[in-house]
Amino acid sequence: MDYIIRLADNTRPATLKLLRRLHSECLPYDKLPNFTEGFWWIAYHGDDAVGFAGMVRSARWIDAGYMNRAGVVPDHRGHGLQKRLIRVRMRYAKRIGWRWLITDTTENPPSANSLIGCGFRAYDPANPWGGRTTTYWRRAL
Ligand SMILES: CC(C)(COP(=O)(O)OP(=O)(O)OC[C@H]1O[C@@H](n2cnc3c(N)ncnc32)[C@H](O)[C@@H]1OP(=O)(O)O)[C@@H](O)C(=O)NCCC(=O)NCCS
Repeated sequence: MDYIIRLADNTRPATLKLLRRLHSECLPYDKLPNFTEGFWWIAYHGDDAVGFAGMVRSARWIDAGYMNRAGVVPDHRGHGLQKRLIRVRMRYAKRIGWRWLITDTTENPPSANSLIGCGFRAYDPANPWGGRTTTYWRRAL
């Protein structure tokens, strides 16, 4: 069975609940993001929701999006789903007129490798917003 990725309607309470559940399963120690902001996608395997990803307008650049969170539930990791969740955001960002996608990783080799696989390059922002071990990534669309 293949995976299907759908843009989520984050005005629906049921969708917000599902995103919160996926987030808790994938990132149990991280603070919940505001799921009502920006764009969110949910990956399905049949009827099961197995992954999610978000993107907001960059707070720093008007023509850029920021990929703020992603997760794939443990049983479905290693099937390229994170890369598909990156590519769906790249396509959407381009369609709505953004020219860049930005993100960061902190001590997360799988995410870094997914970003490299999708053509992202590491860079040093003028004003870094993360911690000491954060790597910053960008890709022109
Ligand atoms: C990070 C995460 C989203 C990856 O999801 P996934 O669907 O398994 O990722 P993909 O299959 O698309 O790709 C993972 C890449 O990392 C590589 N990888 C996997 N484990 C690795 C490890 N321990 N060290 C280095 N690379 C690793 C894979 O080989 C693959 O790279 P490749 O395509 O070049 O072979 C998933 O592990 C997860 O949800 N983790 C917890 C939440 C999290 O860290 N989210 C991201 C930050 S918000």
